[in-house]
Amino acid sequence: MHAPYEVPTVALSSEPLHATDADLIIVPVAEDHAAAVAGGLDVALAAEVTSALERGEFRAKAQEIYVARTPAEGWRASRVVFVGGGPRREMGAERFRRMAVAAAQVARHQRRARIAWADVEPGALDAAQRLDILAEGLVLANFNNGVHKSRPDPHFFFTHATLLTREQAGEAAQHGLGTGEAINAARVLINEPGNYLTPRVMAEKAAALGAVKGVTAEILDEQQMATLGMGLLLGVARGSAEPPRLLVLKYTPDGAPADQVLGLVGKGITFDTGGISLKPSDGMERMKDDMAGGASVVAALRSIALRRLPVRAVAVVPMTENMPGGRATKPGDVHTSASGLTVEVNNTDAEGRLILGDALWYARRLGATHLVDVATLTGAVVVALGKITTGLYGTPRPWVNHILGAAERAGEKVWPMPLFDEYGEALKSEIADLLNSPGRPAGSITAAMFLKEFAGTGPWAHLDIAGTAWAEEAKAWQAKGATGAMIRTLVETARAGFPGG
Ligand code: BES
Ligand code: MN
Ligand code: ZN
Repeated sequence: MHAPYEVPTVALSSEPLHATDADLIIVPVAEDHAAAVAGGLDVALAAEVTSALERGEFRAKAQEIYVARTPAEGWRASRVVFVGGGPRREMGAERFRRMAVAAAQVARHQRRARIAWADVEPGALDAAQRLDILAEGLVLANFNNGVHKSRPDPHFFFTHATLLTREQAGEAAQHGLGTGEAINAARVLINEPGNYLTPRVMAEKAAALGAVKGVTAEILDEQQMATLGMGLLLGVARGSAEPPRLLVLKYTPDGAPADQVLGLVGKGITFDTGGISLKPSDGMERMKDDMAGGASVVAALRSIALRRLPVRAVAVVPMTENMPGGRATKPGDVHTSASGLTVEVNNTDAEGRLILGDALWYARRLGATHLVDVATLTGAVVVALGKITTGLYGTPRPWVNHILGAAERAGEKVWPMPLFDEYGEALKSEIADLLNSPGRPAGSITAAMFLKEFAGTGPWAHLDIAGTAWAEEAKAWQAKGATGAMIRTLVETARAGFPGG
C-alpha cells in the first residue's frame, strides 16, 4: 500500500506575506470582518479580495474558497487562497479545522508543495488553540484513503507548511501536528480491510502507534484472558479462527498524581459479521470499521503522551473478530464475565458491549479511576442522532459535563443521552444476571446501561460513535471513510484534568 498521508514540516514565521517563500498562501476571512483582513493585506491584494466581496463572487461563508493570483511584483508566492470562516463568533475549533482542510485541499489540487497560512483572523479562539487546530487541520488534509491497487492513482502531498503569525505558539503548533498525525494513523487502521487488520495485526500496529516516550505497551493473548476470567471477550472470539488480543497502554508521566488515572477503553472488533445472529450482506463491508473506538483511544493516548500532559492514563483495547464459526457462541448461551456477572447472549450481534464489559473491568483493575469508552456500538444511536453527532452517556453528571465541555472546545459534536434506572429493566434475563440484547426501544441507551454494569461506581462516560466514525461521502473538509471521531475530545479531556480538583 502506498503512503496514505504525509506530515509536512511545520514552521512559524512573522514575515510579511509578500516576502514569504511559499508556493501558495492561505488567508482566512471572517464574513463579518472581511474589511479588517483586507486592511492588513497589501494594496493590490486587498483590492482584489474587496472587489470579489463587492461583486458577491466571494462571500466568506464557512469553508468557501476564492483563489487569487498574487500581484506580479514583489511576491514570492504565486497564489493566495482566501478561505471563508462565516461569522467571527462561530469561528471555533471545528470551523478553523474545516477551513484548514478545505484550503489545504486546494493547495494539493494545485500541486503546491510549500504552503503558508496567514494568521490574520483570530476567530473566536486564543492564539494557542488556533495554531494547534490549524496545524492539526493541515495534517488532516494531507491524507488519502489507503488503497490496495496494483497501480494506485498518483496523488500529491504538500511537504512544508509555514504559519505566518506574530504569536509565540510554536509548541501549540507542534501539538496540533502530533494530534493530526495520530488521527491520520488511526484513520489508516480504521480504513484497512478486515483481512489485513486482524486482531493480531491490529494489536501490533496499535501498540507501535501508542508506544511513544513515557508509554508502556503490553499485549495479552487468549491464555492470559482465560486466566483473568474474561468470558465475555473469549465468548465473542469463539466464532473466529483468528485469536483475540487485548492491548494495554500505560502513560505514567513523572510527578503526576497517582490517585487519579484516566482509563480509555475502545471497542476493537476488527470485523463484525454479527456472528450466528448474522447481519444482512448489504453493506456488511462497512463493519471493518468496528474497531474505530479502539484505534481512537490508542491515537488519543499517543497524542496525550506527545503533549506530555500531566495526567496518568491507561488505554485498554479488546480486539477480536465477531464470526459465525463452528464453535461460535449461540443465541441463548451464557458466559461469565471477569467481573463475575453472568450474561445471557440472546443476540450475538450485540458483541461490542460484551468485549467492553470485560475491558472496562480490566481498566479499573489496572487502577483507572475515571473511565471513558469509545465504541461503534449501536445502529440505534444513528437513528437517534444521525451521522452528525456522537452520543454521550455516563455518570455522574460532573464527569459527563467534563466530557461534553472537552468535546465543545475540541470542536466535535457530542450530545448527552439519559440513563434513567428504568431503562435497566430491559437488561433482565431469566437465567443470568444480564441479557445482552434487550430489543429495539432506546437501543443505544440500553447498550450504555449494559456497560454501566461493568464500569463500577466511579466516573464513567461512554461515547457511541456508530454514526460518526465513518463518512459516507467526501466533503471539502473531510475525506470519505474513517473520520477519527473523538480523538481530539479525549485529548482535550486529558488536558483539562479531572473535575473537582
Ligand atoms: N457494530 C454494530 C453497530 C453498528 C451498526 C455500527 C451500524 C455502525 C453502523 C454493533 O455490534 C451491532 O451490531 N449492534 C446491534 C445491537 C443489537 C443487536 C442489540 C445493532 O445496533 O443492531
Ligand atoms: Mn454487532
Ligand atoms: Zn459491532
